[in-house]
Amino acid sequence: MSLLTRRRLLRRAALSATAARAVRTGLAGAAAAGTVASAAVAGCDDTPGPAPEGGASSGALRFPPDFGWGAATSAYQIEGAAKEDGRGESVWDTFSRTPGRTRNGDTGDVAADHYHRYAEDLDLMRDLGLRSYRFSISWSRIQADGSGRPNQRGLDFYRRLVDGLHERGIAPMATLFHWDLPQALQDAGGWENRDTAERFGAYADIVFRALGDRVPAWLTINEPKTVVQNGYLSGHHAPGRQDPAAAYLVAHHLQLAHGLAVRALRAAGVEGRIGPALNLHPCYPADDTAEAAAATRLYDGYENRLYLDSVFTGAYPQDVLADLGADSRMVRGIRDGDLAVIASPVDLLAVQYYTPIYVTGQGTTVRKWPTSGAEWQQIYPEGMYDILTRVTRDYGPIPLTITENGLPCPDTLAPDGTVDDTARIDFLRDHFAAAHRAILDGVPLESYHVWSLLDNFEWAEGYDQRWGLVYVDYPTQRRVLKRSAHWYRTVIRNNGL
Ligand code: FCB
Repeated sequence: MSLLTRRRLLRRAALSATAARAVRTGLAGAAAAGTVASAAVAGCDDTPGPAPEGGASSGALRFPPDFGWGAATSAYQIEGAAKEDGRGESVWDTFSRTPGRTRNGDTGDVAADHYHRYAEDLDLMRDLGLRSYRFSISWSRIQADGSGRPNQRGLDFYRRLVDGLHERGIAPMATLFHWDLPQALQDAGGWENRDTAERFGAYADIVFRALGDRVPAWLTINEPKTVVQNGYLSGHHAPGRQDPAAAYLVAHHLQLAHGLAVRALRAAGVEGRIGPALNLHPCYPADDTAEAAAATRLYDGYENRLYLDSVFTGAYPQDVLADLGADSRMVRGIRDGDLAVIASPVDLLAVQYYTPIYVTGQGTTVRKWPTSGAEWQQIYPEGMYDILTRVTRDYGPIPLTITENGLPCPDTLAPDGTVDDTARIDFLRDHFAAAHRAILDGVPLESYHVWSLLDNFEWAEGYDQRWGLVYVDYPTQRRVLKRSAHWYRTVIRNNGL
């Protein structure tokens, strides 16, 4: 069975038969997203600017002043140095070293060797003109076993990185958790164990006290949904489980961990802003039937509202809870006061947008648009507009940042030393334009981080997929700016397209 089929089957297993009966209760729906507000945001207009180099743009869309053009990475995907300076093992070390789990048996042992080459990478960021850099902190560098005294050498690495960003005029945005749970915590039950959420709060406190004076923006948990779906439903990510009952208990504990980290930041008296990083998928009915509409509504509950509602309204969506059932491990695992913790006020919401989802009356999904080099990604820039405007309409004008958007291209290094990724330029131009339109329609979008700065270890896909603006020649670790990187530099310089 292909991975895709397996994922779909498991996904379906997670949705009970009540999906088809779910009542349509007023979600205007991403599919029907209209404008949020008619007033254009000050300073964001559509007057022509100079055309960027690299082609593929007509030069017409200017972003608000101080717009945070950036790029994103994550620790396990780029750092390497898996055994250095007191770093402990994470679930991704275990998973990637298990035969058959990743393409070609690839691991993050070396990755893009960023742990040793961070200074060179910082210079690359400066050369690109980045204003913001989103990276993640490896929990097992800070606490090898996920608890106890902090490892100063781990904290020092991130201090050097953050200082280096400031020296180059780039704003740091740090994610506390990008999937690399310390293996010792996994051995004690991982995210199925409520105690892991408490440990996360304690780890967050250590990081805030060490780096809080230098990091203006924090993200708690990267894509809790992906841990749930890929780690515990399909099992093609660490920890490699296929257990729908455990999956949603894990979701609750991840949300709880998020809330505990928010509270830890406030308790530490740190000034930085904090919020969740959610991969949101606009869900559309695959056809005009009432069944497809109902199934889409519930699908949206699992994809988006489970995470958004709990943080922004203090309640899990009723349709999802009903679908899971009162006897589910998740529902039984919710304790008094948990939702108040999860809904601790946040300062920003990080949105990661890659693909839309089209749902049939049977609760299965279909493809409507061409895919990128990642089979799960349909290229649909309009989905960016839809999800941004929907979030603002449904949850209010919370400041938004895009912390991931990009695609993998079959990039090759030509003999003349160039990497011609025109498809990435087209993709980014169209998504930037969609984001710009959302801003014009009232969405308080502050910044945009392209995924990714560098080619890196793409989880189960190993090094086969190249998502970077910068090509990494893994045998030599040489960095080469792709054509898209040159183009992006001009976009940043012009503050628009
Ligand atoms: C996101 C992940 C990121 C990367 C991109 C392609 O879901 O957060 O680490 O793998 O997908």
